[in-house]
Amino acid sequence: DLYRNFIVDHRWRYLTNGLLLTLEITFFAVLLGVVLGFSVALVREAHRSTGKFRLLSAIGGVYLTVIRGTPVVVQLILIYFGIFASVRIPPILVAIIAFGINSGAYQAEIFRSGIEAVPRGQFEAGRSLGFSYWKTMWRIVMPQAIKNVIPTLANEFIVLLKETSVAGYVALNDLTKGGDIIRSRTYSPYLPMLAVALIYLCLVMIFSAGVKYLERRLKTGER
Ligand code: ARG
Repeated sequence: DLYRNFIVDHRWRYLTNGLLLTLEITFFAVLLGVVLGFSVALVREAHRSTGKFRLLSAIGGVYLTVIRGTPVVVQLILIYFGIFASVRIPPILVAIIAFGINSGAYQAEIFRSGIEAVPRGQFEAGRSLGFSYWKTMWRIVMPQAIKNVIPTLANEFIVLLKETSVAGYVALNDLTKGGDIIRSRTYSPYLPMLAVALIYLCLVMIFSAGVKYLERRLKTGER
């Protein structure tokens, strides 16, 4: 019967199509998050050390506090039914924007700690060579900071992969929703969701191994 449900009725397609959507949302949300997170971290760092960008930095602070202080599902629902209710754009874009905005707040902290992990002396060395603040940041501090955060950013991809499982709240048929649809049509309480769990688990294990490899590779390059 499982055979008929799953294979003959092509229900497995809910899982493959769902997985594809999950991966798409995750990938582009992480990208959007990189842009947002990096910008916010940069502005706030510049404010801390030069005193400029007071307003932008404050706006960034509010963004971090609000996004990290509320559940991502709530943000998703608000953006989906609120902001984009009247505008006609594909639901997947709404999800990418919602998860991207969410991820950006967490990534800003990742970039901040990456910048702070670069020894102060590196910055001072640049300045004493006569480099401007921005030149020192771009040429000396950032290359090291970005290298520091690459494994953590890869890890953010893994976090979002699982975090997007709430996308089904807003009519997106991601992997989790796909499994849930099969569950509701077959009345099979375990198998569809166990299959979903197994797929997430395999992906997370594969990407985690990739992160470990990255960490090792980046370490050996140091001297
Ligand atoms: N589970 C958290 C929430 O519901 C969101 C965590 C998102 N984390 C991230 N690194 N993007 O608010």
